[in-house]
Amino acid sequence: MSKKIVVITGSPRKKGNSFAMTEAFIKAAEAKGHTVTRFDAAFKKVGGCHACETCFSTGKACSFDDDFNTIAPAILEADALVFTTPVYWYSFPAQIKAVIDRIYSLVVGGKDIAGKECALIACCEEDDLAILDGVRIPMERTAALNKWKMVGEVLVPGVLNVGDIEKTDGCARAAALADAI
Ligand SMILES: Cc1cc2nc3c(=O)[nH]c(=O)nc-3n(C[C@H](O)[C@H](O)[C@H](O)COP(=O)(O)O)c2cc1C
Repeated sequence: MSKKIVVITGSPRKKGNSFAMTEAFIKAAEAKGHTVTRFDAAFKKVGGCHACETCFSTGKACSFDDDFNTIAPAILEADALVFTTPVYWYSFPAQIKAVIDRIYSLVVGGKDIAGKECALIACCEEDDLAILDGVRIPMERTAALNKWKMVGEVLVPGVLNVGDIEKTDGCARAAALADAI
């Protein structure tokens, strides 16, 4: 069945490791007939959540109108959400964290976002899978709270520089993730 997939990326490196995995995933997902909408958070203007709880009162998801409001309708419509990110200081880069925080507007706005599929593609420099806990655990808990089904995680430690991902099976695993959606 063809599904609507929203891919939200967190890296500012266009030729970087998580983008390479993102592109492998998208290519495989589109080959399976899915529709992919990609949102590169680092190349958009998305501020943090103001916690004003006036979500949807202006007709848009967030009263603070920035690029989050351009992706919010696609997130609402999506069958699956795929987050792709490097680890920055044992956590998410600020750019993608802002998008995740702003998903709060869909919850406060009473939107039905339960039942979506969710997946995580992530990488980091240090050669220790536990470093990825900083993005894996919040992602899994966010999914659980929102009643999203985690369908896959591609977690790749030990990649620092652009191109390092090619020395791993990260892109192959990211492509295979398309089979889980
Ligand atoms: C600001 C910053 C903070 C980082 N913090 C960590 C970290 O805490 N742990 C780690 O293993 N790698 C860290 N890294 C390395 C990146 O996770 C690594 O280079 C990754 O491959 C980058 O992915 P990208 O090419 O998709 O941007 C950091 C990199 C930057 C630029």
